[in-house]
Amino acid sequence: RLHAVVMAGGSGTRFWPKSRRDRPKQLLRLYGATTMLQQTLDRVAPLTAPERTWIVTGIDQAEATRAQTPDLAPSQILAEPCPRDTAACVGLAARRIVQLDPEALMLVMPADHVIEPAEEFRRAARAAVALIAEDPRRLVTFGVPPTRPETGYGYMETGEEIGRPEGLAARRALTFREKPDRATAETFLASGRFVWNAGIFVWKAATILEEIARHQPDLAAGLDRLASDLGTDRQSHTLAEIFPTLPKLPIDKAVMERSQQVVVLETPYRWSDVGDWRALAGLGGLDDQGNVLQGPTHVVNTRDSVIIADEGNLVAVLGLSEVVVVQSGGATLVARKDALDNLKALVEELPKAG
Ligand code: GDD
Ligand code: MG
Repeated sequence: RLHAVVMAGGSGTRFWPKSRRDRPKQLLRLYGATTMLQQTLDRVAPLTAPERTWIVTGIDQAEATRAQTPDLAPSQILAEPCPRDTAACVGLAARRIVQLDPEALMLVMPADHVIEPAEEFRRAARAAVALIAEDPRRLVTFGVPPTRPETGYGYMETGEEIGRPEGLAARRALTFREKPDRATAETFLASGRFVWNAGIFVWKAATILEEIARHQPDLAAGLDRLASDLGTDRQSHTLAEIFPTLPKLPIDKAVMERSQQVVVLETPYRWSDVGDWRALAGLGGLDDQGNVLQGPTHVVNTRDSVIIADEGNLVAVLGLSEVVVVQSGGATLVARKDALDNLKALVEELPKAG
């Protein structure tokens, strides 16, 4: 039985001023008619059922998340009292799911990626399920062919082909390296043997818990302490007590870099993790000067820019190129595109109201 687990704990500073503390990226409509979270749920809905769909999010965002997901029972939203990164997030969901079904499979995915077409994503998910039916110890990851020496992703070196479920190549992962430095990323790219980790995983809940126990015994011990209260009326109380004590680690470093059981599946779909405002340009819908325009905007002699305005707030831009101008909720960002790596730092400096 396949359970879908949506990781939705991001702080969303990279989309300020549209994203705020209580309104992170996945709850925004950045691309398409619905929010990133709703698109993520729609994408997996045909593969699972509402009672096997889970969202793991921060307690500050739980209410806004529930408001966007009326088809899910409130108990399907696991609220973390504080963010402890994705290893704790995955571990929490896995503990809850094995309780209900010891044989369950989990499809773990971020809430805020653009993946198209959705049917191809589901094909990859079915292929992953087939790989695990063959060998339940496998940790299946989705690999994306790299196009630049990006340092913000995980890289996987692929080895021998072990099968072609659904016509997609599955290969053993020889190494997994999370967020290499620039020089290393360049050698990975040049070798032709590496793919990006899309941050989407399929595994048996019991298997990932075994791997957490093997590679991160402290995390496993913490999860043991909260397991028996999950799904009871003591859940939020026990989470508040124990969750903050869990080690803060991404699953990629905690388990994937260490495990011998990682399998990489070729991905047939278009994928973008929509890292910041600049990523919108890669998703299409540009004007003939290469601008992304959303809301009431007017531009003259402006190119390769991202200009976004709330309804009722006209933004006009004259004679600029490669800039980002976003006006939303009473705040305005004006930035050079190439300065946007520092947006997170800027937002952290802002007074609380930001
Ligand atoms: N519930 C919860 N709690 N979710 C979290 C937490 C947390 O503490 N921390 C992160 N998440 C969610 C984020 O919202 C996002 O949807 C997903 O987990 C991945 O976390 P990121 O923080 O965005 O990870 P990353 O982008 O640095 O790296 C991961 O994704 C890359 C692809 O986008 C890694 O898996 C990389 O290897 C991968 O290449
Ligand atoms: Mg990310």
